Amino acid sequence: MLLPLKPLVAALALTGTTTTVTAAPLFDSVTTFISHLTNPPNAAQHLDLQTPGSDPTGLNTLSTLGSSAKSVLQKNQAYLLLINATPFTLRKTGGHSYQMPVWDASFPEVVQPGESIRIKIEAKTHKDDAAEMRYVIEELKNQGQGGGGGEIEFQYRGHSGPLLQVEWKSLASINNPVGSVRALTWHQGNNIPFLLSAAPSSLNDTSHNSGFFFDPSKHLIASPSLPTNSWMKTSYPRLHCLTLRQLSLPGTHNSGMSLLTGGTPLVKARPESVQCHSSSMTVGSQLASGARWFDIRPVIAGGKWATGHYTFFNGIKLPSGLEQIPGLGDLAKELGKLGGGDKDRALDGWQGGNGQLLSSIISEINTFTAQNPGELIVINLSHGLNTDTFSGNSNAHLSQQEWDTLMTELLKINNRATHLTLPNIDLSYLPLSALLPPLDPSLPLDSPTPLRASTVLIIVDDITSSNTRVDTSKFASRGIFFRRQLSIFDSYADTNSLSAMISDQFSKMQQHRQKPNDDMFLLSWTLTQPVETMITGSIVQYAEEANRALGEKLWAGGGQQMSKEKYPNVVSVDAFGADGEVTGLVAGINWFLAEECPAL
Ligand SMILES: *[C@@H]1O[C@H](CO)[C@@H](O)[C@H](O)[C@H]1NC(C)=O
Ligand SMILES: *[C@@H]1O[C@H](CO)[C@@H](O)[C@H](O)[C@H]1NC(C)=O
Repeated sequence: MLLPLKPLVAALALTGTTTTVTAAPLFDSVTTFISHLTNPPNAAQHLDLQTPGSDPTGLNTLSTLGSSAKSVLQKNQAYLLLINATPFTLRKTGGHSYQMPVWDASFPEVVQPGESIRIKIEAKTHKDDAAEMRYVIEELKNQGQGGGGGEIEFQYRGHSGPLLQVEWKSLASINNPVGSVRALTWHQGNNIPFLLSAAPSSLNDTSHNSGFFFDPSKHLIASPSLPTNSWMKTSYPRLHCLTLRQLSLPGTHNSGMSLLTGGTPLVKARPESVQCHSSSMTVGSQLASGARWFDIRPVIAGGKWATGHYTFFNGIKLPSGLEQIPGLGDLAKELGKLGGGDKDRALDGWQGGNGQLLSSIISEINTFTAQNPGELIVINLSHGLNTDTFSGNSNAHLSQQEWDTLMTELLKINNRATHLTLPNIDLSYLPLSALLPPLDPSLPLDSPTPLRASTVLIIVDDITSSNTRVDTSKFASRGIFFRRQLSIFDSYADTNSLSAMISDQFSKMQQHRQKPNDDMFLLSWTLTQPVETMITGSIVQYAEEANRALGEKLWAGGGQQMSKEKYPNVVSVDAFGADGEVTGLVAGINWFLAEECPAL
């Protein structure tokens, strides 16, 4: 198993698009390659992160390894990323620590509404390292009902490795009753996000003159301890009036590529080069962990429908001697087969692999929607390819006939939006209450009942082998829609530099998403790997790093990136995690920034 080689890959960034690649030799020599292999970057590179306000570009997340990095790694260090996406003031009420070089002084006295703070913590790595720090929601502390004491406690425990957790002392939130204790996922040397979110008007409900009280167990969410499989249902009273242009949904990039079910020999030897999600995170697990927007790239492979991830190469030369490098395993054998001459050592044509089978995706979606009413799921199909007829031709798009077969297959998805029958309807202007029909089918579609069924919107956004848009008209009232029914701005950065990706995506958001009625905006929080990753890197490992930066950069203090007017409608990531962190960072946008809905 190879480690990811970031400096190497960064230095070798090639020109070309993701689908067609023409390039020079990968490495000057096999010696440089080996030296990179034996000096991989290590996890301590995040330890010099500064406060988010000081660097909106994101460059600090890439700060290089300091000289003391090795000794620093011996300690348990991380940052609690505390995001207060509520109208309330969090005030420190006290704490205690034992054998914690960095704890007490890191926690600020006050975390203001809308503020996001990185709190550095460090333990000595002894079993009895321990610490606590309490905060109270000031506006709730005298309320005394329904989680009304308003206090939570952050706790560090060293007894079985580093552990950061939250105890709900006298505060509650959706899914977190008073007395519960929730572990956060430890990210050594990096951000550990914890977000609280509530609607701005909640503040009024805490006023003692108003006759009713804010109930945090229903109107406060906390992440990562959201009920991720039902986060939309539990948020429905807050979200029911929001259209797709106003909602914000967690999405996954190349959603089917959590495993490899086939592919070209080089890719089979290096599955990490096309796998975008860890192998346990199939579409079904992504749904259960909160993802609601899916990027499905259908391929015909061996006569079956699968998802795929392919690149077309116009000749890329590999250095000779590569196959002698120890540790390359099966890849070395495949490289060996490419032959010795310069011409033979070129990669040509289609390289790539197939992920989850469509039948498995369909059955996972159906299982999910049967168990979880009230969730909105969007499936975007694009990049269709027929891998069975691959040749030296870069046009391997599916024909209209193949698309018709595929769309017929997609009719096996239950809970399609067959109630949306108006021809050419623009889905982006429909509120959640219209997108999700009532759970009880005998009720009229416009019934205000909060009990809703789940809906799957299937969008086909591709061209055929004859270079025309896929025609979806035969499936018009059967829950399959075409691209213009869901106007979205979606433009990826095409870079593997985290800082360049972040500034690219934020500047596109500033430009294209100035008010909630603008076209939807997809924040493509993904790094595009150059072709060398086929030999060296792992998409998932790079992506995990990008996901660690998401909360810090997106929620950076004082509305730098986001405001009530401006926020992403879809946040699309690779390496979507079971921990629900990305889900919570996005769900919080709906609660704190989106327009408020009338009471149901
Ligand atoms: C709180 O109530 C006041 C008075 O009714 C109102 O003007 C204000 O807009 C409300 N604030 C929010 C955030 O709803
Ligand atoms: C569908 O996905 C493709 C590939 O990511 C993207 O280019 C396109 O904009 C998406 N379309 C919609 C409607 O989301």
